[in-house]
Amino acid sequence: MISLAFKLGILTALLFIITKACDFNLIIVSNTGNDYFVQIKTPNGTASELFHFKKSGQKESVHITGNNCFLNMTTINTYKVNPDGARGQRLYQAKAILDGMGFIQYSLLADGLVAIDSSTGVMYAFDTYEGKGKK
Ligand SMILES: *[C@@H]1O[C@H](CO)[C@@H](O)[C@H](O)[C@H]1NC(C)=O
Ligand SMILES: *[C@@H]1O[C@H](CO)[C@@H](O)[C@H](O)[C@H]1NC(C)=O
Repeated sequence: MISLAFKLGILTALLFIITKACDFNLIIVSNTGNDYFVQIKTPNGTASELFHFKKSGQKESVHITGNNCFLNMTTINTYKVNPDGARGQRLYQAKAILDGMGFIQYSLLADGLVAIDSSTGVMYAFDTYEGKGKK
């Protein structure tokens, strides 16, 4: 029979996990001189501003806070920039479960895909993407 103290211990551990706060920066650094729009959907469903990447080395970031970020995916959509400067067709949608405290950095690659580059204090899982990229 499991002791009451042990059960309470498990319950406390579960509560700790369930109410875990996340607080991190998602940083995207461009690796390319190609023009792209990038928008991030945070775990609570809020969309970031539409970032316009124009040059290699350009860095943009979103501060993600909340509880239990791991319950929803974080999504990064990349789009073509039309000749008139408007948002064009979507190139890629990258998704991952992100949680923790610190930062995670993605690189924006030449064909419009974003890929995880490094992370400090942020765990990631189920990192996937779909899309056809720039033709
Ligand atoms: C997950 O997404 C749903 C729908 O957008 C939202 O209602 C919920 O608050 C989100 N959960 C977390 C932990 O952000
Ligand atoms: C949703 O998440 C964003 C980014 O972490 C945050 O700025 C915003 O306040 C959150 N909105 C709600 C309703 O919690």
